[in-house]
Amino acid sequence: MLNSIAVMTSGGDSPGMNAAIRAVTRTALHHGVKVWGIRGGYHGLLDEEMFEMKSKDVSDIIQRGGTFLGTARCKRFATTEGRMLGYKNLIDRGIQGLVVIGGDGSLRGASIFSQETGIPIVGLPGTIDNDVWGSEYTIGCDTAANTIIDAINKLRDTASAHRRIIVLEVMGRNSGWLAMVTGISGGAEYILVPEEEYDLDEICDDMKESYAKGKRYILVVVAEGAGRGYEIGKAISEKTGLDTRVSKLGHIQRGGSPSVIDRVNASRLGENAALAIISGLSDIVFGFNRGHVVSINLHDAVNNKKKLNPEFMRLAKVLA
Ligand code: F6P
Repeated sequence: MLNSIAVMTSGGDSPGMNAAIRAVTRTALHHGVKVWGIRGGYHGLLDEEMFEMKSKDVSDIIQRGGTFLGTARCKRFATTEGRMLGYKNLIDRGIQGLVVIGGDGSLRGASIFSQETGIPIVGLPGTIDNDVWGSEYTIGCDTAANTIIDAINKLRDTASAHRRIIVLEVMGRNSGWLAMVTGISGGAEYILVPEEEYDLDEICDDMKESYAKGKRYILVVVAEGAGRGYEIGKAISEKTGLDTRVSKLGHIQRGGSPSVIDRVNASRLGENAALAIISGLSDIVFGFNRGHVVSINLHDAVNNKKKLNPEFMRLAKVLA
């Protein structure tokens, strides 16, 4: 059994990361294990920005978006030299295991780190993109989807008033999950995702036909990985001659107070991560499968690409 662990967040922040940090910390303390917080992702590990946490250090954070530990994408950690320095900084403090909360890039770094140094690592999937292989859920995806839906509801009002085509670009560099679920639940006519090819000429012909039949307005949700909203909007406007506007939600969709689902799921995942790392387990990621917490091999999680559920793609077309 380990008696001192550390926790950190890495990569893009996501709502619910604080709930996960809190759960890891309080679970460890409950079992008499020391917990260190690492600030600013892998940067903090290399720059020795670590502090021992007590229960009150994680008070008043469960309702907050972002991550109170801070986060970053760290190029130095991509080098062996950087990782060796990180390992030394942990060992110097007597830290025997690490919980990393982040997306696939951060978990990939964690996997290499544990293989190279032998330090036990447990990962938690923290990204709004919901694209970590082996888990149907990642911390923050629910809140982000709800933020997007709020924007879609507002965009529909103004689109309908003006009889316009609205193109909304949402995040998802490599994954269309956010665009797909918000497009389906927001009633979008077209959902463009990186996982599926689309023909803009065909879409534009279809749009003109719909307008000719009396359609009042059209909503297009595009994942950033499937194309830039402004370019798609410009092309639609030129090809159809229809009044078209573009919105890009940007980082608004990454912030905000976490939803109940994100708080509860992050708390459950955090407890599992703490118990696993304390008992000496390593190279696993906790996620969800059919509503249950499951452990996934870390190596598999970072070396496989999660697929977008084809059922979503089919349904989106039926309902459009
Ligand atoms: O990785 C999560 C993510 O939300 C991506 O969908 C998006 O491309 C990226 O973060 C944006 O990151 P940054 O904050 O570095 O602009």
